[in-house]
Amino acid sequence: MKIEPSIQIELVTFPSAAPASAPPNAEPPRHLSSPEAVEWKTFKSEKRRREWSAGRLAAKRLVRRRLREQGIARPLADIRIARLESGEPYAVVGRDGRARRYNLSISHSQGLAACALLLDGRRAVVHARRRTRYRAQCRAQGVTPLARRIGVDIEQVARRLASWLEESAHPEERSAALEKDPILQTALWTLKEAVMKFLGTGMTVGLWDIRFKADRPLDSLEDLRTSSLELHGRAREAWQSLGRPEILWRTQTLSSRKGSGPLFCLSIAYVPPQRAVHLMGDETS
Ligand SMILES: CC(C)(COP(=O)(O)OP(=O)(O)OC[C@H]1O[C@@H](n2cnc3c(N)ncnc32)[C@H](O)[C@@H]1OP(=O)(O)O)[C@@H](O)C(=O)NCCC(=O)NCCS
Repeated sequence: MKIEPSIQIELVTFPSAAPASAPPNAEPPRHLSSPEAVEWKTFKSEKRRREWSAGRLAAKRLVRRRLREQGIARPLADIRIARLESGEPYAVVGRDGRARRYNLSISHSQGLAACALLLDGRRAVVHARRRTRYRAQCRAQGVTPLARRIGVDIEQVARRLASWLEESAHPEERSAALEKDPILQTALWTLKEAVMKFLGTGMTVGLWDIRFKADRPLDSLEDLRTSSLELHGRAREAWQSLGRPEILWRTQTLSSRKGSGPLFCLSIAYVPPQRAVHLMGDETS
């Protein structure tokens, strides 16, 4: 699925109605690497096993496709999805004694998992010393280099309670449409979570600290698309510590089963690809 030319998104459906506890002797899915299979077995909840495994399957398929484009064939189990201390996921593939790393973002909701990967664009001619220094700084700070930062979030469309509106939407974002339109509510929520994942903070920042402000009351998805993003508090601090990257966003609705399943909102937040290319170029390490 393509929501924007520089971004690939892979969706995987999985049965959401799961028994509460995972069967003790179940075999891990074959797409998992050995360390992933060990982690999968530690999950006590069958729901958690399924969503975690589906998110990894989506991520591995995207990375496998990228590798194939470069003439490299790898089984899914050879692609490992690791994560930073913050929880931010990335993929690692060993190749010719070197590790190739891909930044990506994962989300799951009600039987649907999504992974988003920012494509390279053309390779940039960036001064090698500058690139090496930048990568070293990122490694030291435990953050993903700017070029590949992306956040994705999906949620099933549902009407939210008034208490949700209080907690999630800043007074400046509220509108009559937002109070009653489940699609607009879910889109705003997923956009905020996509930005949190982009920043790598997760829920450690408040939803009010990420604000989508329009010149007029938010009335439609188009208003969200053309609104401006304001970051406050910890969200702003996280953005500053990443070097104040420009953030773009997209949101759209989709159905899990070719038009017949429930409706979801999928949102992404990402750095503009040209800027990414200019800053980073090739990112093999
Ligand atoms: C990130 C977060 C906002 C997503 O919550 P959510 O909407 O309920 O769940 P989603 O399905 O959309 O996203 C979950 C995915 O976000 C990713 N994620 C977790 N923390 C992240 C972070 N700091 N930055 C970017 N992505 C993150 C993970 O890949 C996770 O899926 P997985 O555990 O199956 O790999 C929420 O998990 C959170 O705030 N976590 C706090 C940080 C945390 O607990 N870290 C765990 C340390 S191991």
